Amino acid sequence: MLLSDLLGQPLSYVLAHGEKLVDASGIDAAMRRRRAGEPLQYIRGKTEFYGREFRVDDRVLIPRPETEILVETAIERIDRGARVVDIGTGSGIIAATLALERPDLRVVATDISVAALVVASGNGATTLVASDLLMAFVEDFDWIVSNPPYVAASEVDTLATEVRDHEPRGALTPGAAGTEIIARIFDQAGRARVILEIGFGQLAAVRDLAAAHHFRVDDVRDDLAGIPRVVVLSRHGWK
Ligand SMILES: C[S@@+](CC[C@H](N)C(=O)[O-])C[C@H]1O[C@@H](n2cnc3c(N)ncnc32)[C@H](O)[C@@H]1O
Repeated sequence: MLLSDLLGQPLSYVLAHGEKLVDASGIDAAMRRRRAGEPLQYIRGKTEFYGREFRVDDRVLIPRPETEILVETAIERIDRGARVVDIGTGSGIIAATLALERPDLRVVATDISVAALVVASGNGATTLVASDLLMAFVEDFDWIVSNPPYVAASEVDTLATEVRDHEPRGALTPGAAGTEIIARIFDQAGRARVILEIGFGQLAAVRDLAAAHHFRVDDVRDDLAGIPRVVVLSRHGWK
């Protein structure tokens, strides 16, 4: 893939032309970075999400395929014309994809990291607000979508070096339990319905948190490995 970028040719060209010689100096720096454990997507400066190409660098989490399930669920479930906020937008892939797939929605993207918002802006997320969750907002939203940081702090050291040493720490872990940001989203959600990506083994904890905040779990979607990954919630009995 690095060669394909260097040559400006598709991957199929690189695979079909093993006999061609290239100037090694062009690829050396990229290979050194890769050997040092830097993720391929940061070196290439781009990745694919939901069939489109987005810019990424070390200011943002690299979009994961599981997050496409969140986007798919949002496209299916969110009602026409709804006001939607993407909390922790990072590279902006959720907000930008939703806006493209569902032009009827009004989508706002927010992140506590201003550096991430710069990347999101370059990726076509149009309405951007720097905020600690919804603290900066006075308006209400109909739906919240979020892939929040959800890795328990103690688990960060067990992650692959690409993730642990290169992706922004604040995008990975919210604290000791892993559910701290999810709990705060429930606190701030008001009447909005919520679509959340959750971590491996987190469903029971999220159900408990939801119940404590008068949220009902309406739907759970598994990822391709059969792990509950996306939860749709709505509030009941809340004034
Ligand atoms: C797991 S990343 C998700 C990025 C992107 N939405 C995606 O799915 O690829 C979580 C994001 O939440 C942001 N974040 C962390 N704490 C936050 C907070 N208190 N308020 C708003 N955003 C926060 C991080 O900066 C990071 O961009």
